[in-house]
Order: sequence, then C-alpha cells, then structure tokens
Amino acid sequence: MVSLKHFVSVENLGETEVMALLKRAQEFKAGKQLELSQPVYAVNMFFENSTRTHTSFEMAESKLGLKELAFNPAQSSVNKGESLYDTLLTMDALGVDLAVIRHSKDNYYQELINLKADQHLNLGIINAGDGSGQHPSQCLLDMLTIYEEFGHFAGLKVAIIGDITNSRVAKSNMQLLTRLGAEVYFSGPKYWYSHEFDSYGQYLDVDELLPQMDVVMLLRVQHERHAGDQNEADFSAAAYHEKYGLNQARYAKLKPQAIIMHPGPINRDVEWASELVEADKSRFYQQIQNGVFIRMAMIEAVMRGRKLGGLN
Ligand code: CP
Repeated sequence: MVSLKHFVSVENLGETEVMALLKRAQEFKAGKQLELSQPVYAVNMFFENSTRTHTSFEMAESKLGLKELAFNPAQSSVNKGESLYDTLLTMDALGVDLAVIRHSKDNYYQELINLKADQHLNLGIINAGDGSGQHPSQCLLDMLTIYEEFGHFAGLKVAIIGDITNSRVAKSNMQLLTRLGAEVYFSGPKYWYSHEFDSYGQYLDVDELLPQMDVVMLLRVQHERHAGDQNEADFSAAAYHEKYGLNQARYAKLKPQAIIMHPGPINRDVEWASELVEADKSRFYQQIQNGVFIRMAMIEAVMRGRKLGGLN
C-alpha cells in the first residue's frame, strides 16, 4: 500500500507506487470499501475554478466515509488578506485532517510542506492543481485510463497536443509517462511549446504525428493564463481548429486501437470537433469516472501516511 504524508506531485512517484495506486483504484472501482474506525475530516479548498476535480474529490471522500467540511474561498477571510499558510493553520486548529487544495500559484505547496511549516502544520495536503505546475490526480486518472485500455505503458506512443506551456496536466503526464516507459510526442502551436520539454519527447507536425499514436491527449487552450500574450490577442478558434484540432479527416487517419483523451473542460470545435467528443475512440467520460477511484486511492495513501481513520 502507498503511504504518503502529502500528495502534491508525481515527481517523486516511482513505477511501483504508481502501479500500486492504479491497482488500488481498480479495487475501489470494483466496489472495495474502507472501514474507518475513527472519523477523518477533509476540506476542499479550491481557489481556482473547477467542476471535475472538485466534485470528484467530494465523491471520493464520500465513498471513503470521510466527513467533508464546506469552504468557499469567496466568503473566506482570504479576502481580508489572510495567507494560505494562516488559513491552513486555522483548519488544522479546527481539527481538519486533510486539505485538498487547488491554487493558481505554481508550487504553492512547497512552503507549506517544508520542514519549518510542517512542524506547525499537522494536516495532509493533496494538490488538486497548482498554476501551470502539477496536476497529480488528473495525471493518475489518465494513467488508469491508459492502463485499462492497453494493460501496459512500455512502448506506447502518446501525443500531448495543444497549450502545453500552460498545462499542469501536460507537465505531470510527460514526467510520469516517460518514467513508465511510454514514448511521448508533442504537437500544437510552437508558441505554446518550450524546449524544456525536449527531454521528455519529440515535437512533430500534428498531421505527421496523429496516424502513429496509440494515445492522443488533447489539451484545453487556457485563455485565463494568457494575459499579456500576443498570441492570445491574435487567437482565432477557427484557425486553431484547422491547424491543430482533431477533426473528421484527422480522426479517420488514427490507428484502429487509438484512444483520445482530454482533461476537460473542452473547448468544443477548438481542440476537438464537437461531433467527435462522444466518438468511439473518445475516453473523455471514462477519464472522469476513473477520477473518483484514483482520488480514493490517493486520499487513502495520505490517510495511511498519517495513520488516520485507524489505517496503518
Ligand atoms: N481536469 C480538470 O482539472 O477539470 P476541472 O478544472 O473542471 O477540475
């Protein structure tokens, strides 16, 4: 069983831990229940908008038997200037055991889990997405979806296409996919690609790339992260779709067994033709379903790391 004090990144997850989490998620999907002998209190603190991740963590907590406390950033004392650290110390003092946090600041969690802060902060932190940094739960639900489909990662050709620079999903996925033995490829606008990704995979033109891929991961164009970007000012949804979007002609050239994934929310008719979102090769809704079970496994890992709920 995986056991962690915090679950903030995939950077330090080895293949053994990943496979243990995927297997545990499959057990939860098959109906496995946890018996908690003591109450565990969780708070979901989403300082950025979310539909899937927030509701999925709520569902995972409910299925595990945790007690969820409501927290609304818009009505909290963060709006009076209280820092995230002081907000978490408050949650800790109130008796919260686990805080699931989404925040716009890259690496917001580092200062919270460093030794000095951790001496005072007893609760476990689960990262539900930090800026353009990491999105460990989305990454692991993507791994579960791929594993269910192919039963392995080694040698699979996986394309990550779109607004890669701004995508925390892309960062987590390129790190973990390469560690698991998959071959990663990139495509999309060159202005939203950085050579720092070259060490994880190769950039190819989208029409050269797609017919070779086993897995096609489309990314949302993240307009909210493009402030001051001239490419945002010049952005045309129709032009993006024509140059990089998954349309009928490109879909027809995919391998027979290829699957299409997207973290959501989708900009229909931008990165993905609307009529193809529910196509046979789409795994979009399976990804969302798998999210609940992988988040159960992640929460359990932190509960074990902290001996919460009577778990060891
Ligand atoms: N994939 C994802 O993070 O979606 P939400 O922003 O809706 O949580």
